[in-house]
Amino acid sequence: MSLNEIFPDVYSNGKNIYTVNRIRGKSVYGEKLVREGNVEYREWDPFRSKLCGAIRKGLVNFPFSKSSKVLYLGASTGTTISHLSDILGEGEIYAVEIAPQMAERLMELAEHRENIVPIVADARKPEEYEEIPDVDIVYQDVAQPDQDRILTMNCRKFLKKGGCAMLCVKSQSIDVSKDPKKVFEEIEKSLSKDFEILEKFYLEPFDKEHEFLVLRIKD
Ligand SMILES: C[S@@+](CC[C@H](N)C(=O)[O-])C[C@H]1O[C@@H](n2cnc3c(N)ncnc32)[C@H](O)[C@@H]1O
Repeated sequence: MSLNEIFPDVYSNGKNIYTVNRIRGKSVYGEKLVREGNVEYREWDPFRSKLCGAIRKGLVNFPFSKSSKVLYLGASTGTTISHLSDILGEGEIYAVEIAPQMAERLMELAEHRENIVPIVADARKPEEYEEIPDVDIVYQDVAQPDQDRILTMNCRKFLKKGGCAMLCVKSQSIDVSKDPKKVFEEIEKSLSKDFEILEKFYLEPFDKEHEFLVLRIKD
């Protein structure tokens, strides 16, 4: 297998995407582990992680680096976060999850991966985690009707000047009766007051009726 680095600490063999396993020998969600020389990689599944889906769809802006601080809203059990943890090195991921059962598995993950800080809280109430520092990136995947309001509120409070946000928009959570394209248009319009839209993708075939937005906060 011959791998090329396509973003800092993200690799590809021309089709599949990989990160270097921070915890050698341990798979997080059943993903394949592969070795090349002395390095072990974890295959990143685009059907399980929208960030990987966006990479497979041609993402250009990849703001994560070894020292990034990331606020991640809608952490679930940490599938995507586990790959960010591989990439981030000494950076930190403040991982907010509202559902206690999901958060429990996230906490187990954080026991082995010290750059994940699990926070059991509602992303609509950023005052519940106001002790976190300002961050370079806000990543949000909460599948809620007020996704745009939640993102704006958190970015205004925690995102550094000029920082980047990534939003997974699930049209079904906003309005099941509307054409998804119309829902995406409306959310883009609402977000354009506070953000410049750098990139947008529909995530098919990896996720249906989802749009992935890369945003930069306006001053
Ligand atoms: C689609 S899943 C996230 C999957 C995850 N981003 C990944 O790629 O591994 C959405 C998650 O958002 C959580 N969630 C929904 N509303 C929330 C809120 N208001 N605050 C925090 N988490 C929330 C749900 O409990 C669920 O675990």
